[in-house]
Amino acid sequence: MITVHGLLGAPTLELRVAAATADWVVGGRRHLDALSVEQDRRITLGALRPAIARISDIAEDQIVLVVASGDPLYFGAVRALREAGHEPEVVTAPSSIATAFAAVALPWDDAVVVSAHGRPLAVAANLARAHPKVAVFTSADNGIRELAALLADLPRWYVLAERLGEPDQCVRVLDSARALSTEPAEPNVVLVLAEPPESCDPPWSGTIAGRETRRRPDVCAAAAVAFARLLPEPGELLAASGSLAEEVAALARWCGAAVVPGPAPDGLAPDVILTDNPLALDANRPRAVVLTTTPPERLPAGYRWTSEHVGGHHLTTGVGP
Ligand SMILES: C[S@@+](CC[C@H](N)C(=O)[O-])C[C@H]1O[C@@H](n2cnc3c(N)ncnc32)[C@H](O)[C@@H]1O
Repeated sequence: MITVHGLLGAPTLELRVAAATADWVVGGRRHLDALSVEQDRRITLGALRPAIARISDIAEDQIVLVVASGDPLYFGAVRALREAGHEPEVVTAPSSIATAFAAVALPWDDAVVVSAHGRPLAVAANLARAHPKVAVFTSADNGIRELAALLADLPRWYVLAERLGEPDQCVRVLDSARALSTEPAEPNVVLVLAEPPESCDPPWSGTIAGRETRRRPDVCAAAAVAFARLLPEPGELLAASGSLAEEVAALARWCGAAVVPGPAPDGLAPDVILTDNPLALDANRPRAVVLTTTPPERLPAGYRWTSEHVGGHHLTTGVGP
C-alpha cells in the first residue's frame, strides 16, 4: 500500500507515526532526516522516476510512505505515481504557493502558477510579463535574481517566500533592484506582481481560476491572419513592430502571450516576431516571423516561407523547425 503524505514545515503527529511504522519511507533527505527514518528503510529522492521504479518493485503487502513537499497533488509526486499504475492514498498539506500568498494575505484564484523547477525560466518570465499576478516554483539556478533580470524593463514587485513552515521561514517583499541582488535561501517560491501586494486586486469575475479572460479584440483581417501565422501562446514572447504591431499585440495579449513593442531588449529572445524591417529577420532565430513589408530577395534559410496579400497588406511568413 502506498500513501503520499504532503509536508510543509513541522511534521504532524500523524505523519510521524506513519513514518515510524512504514516498511519504506520515500522522500528528500531533509524530510527523511526530519522524520528520523533509519537508513535501511529509506528511499532518498533525487530524481522521481528512479524512485518510482524502486517503489514498483516493492511487494504489494509492504507499506510505503512517500513524503512530498506541500500539496502532493499540485506539481507533486502523485501524477507520476498514477502514470506508473499506482493508486496511492493521499494526505494533503498546504501548497507552498498557497502559503506564500497567505503570508501576504493576497487572494490567488486569479493567479497564474508556473514551475521553473528544472524547466526553462523564459516561460515563467514571459508569463510574468503578460500577467499581473504570477507564482513561480523556483530552483537554485532558476530563481528570483534570474527572473528579475529577465523582467528588468518592467515595474514589478517580488514576494520571496523562503523555507516556508521551517523555523527560519522568511517572506520578503522586494522591488526589482533588491530582487536582482538578494541571496535567496532554498527552497523558495516567488510571486511576481504588477502592483505591491497591499494594492487592490484587478477585477476578476470569480468563475474560472486563473487570469481574467478579456474580450477578444476587434482587429483588421491582416492582423488576424498575421496572428494566426505566428500563433503565440501563453509563456511565449512576441516582439511586434510596424504597421500591424498594435493589433497583433492586442491579440497576443488576449491569448496570454507576452509582448514587447519593437525589437526585444538585450537578453530577451522572442519566440515570434512581427516586423516591417527585413533586417530584423537575421537578428535571431525565433520560432516564427511575419514580415509586413516587401521581403528581401534572399530570405533566411531554415524556415518554410509563404507570401500572401491580405486587406492591402503583404505578409511574408517564415515558420521555423
Ligand atoms: C516539485 S515542486 C513541489 C511543490 C509542492 N507540491 C507544493 O505544493 O508546494 C518543488 C518546489 O516547491 C517549492 N517549495 C517546496 N517546499 C517549499 C518550502 N518549504 N518553502 C518554499 N518553497 C517550497 C520550491 O519552489 C521547490 O522548488
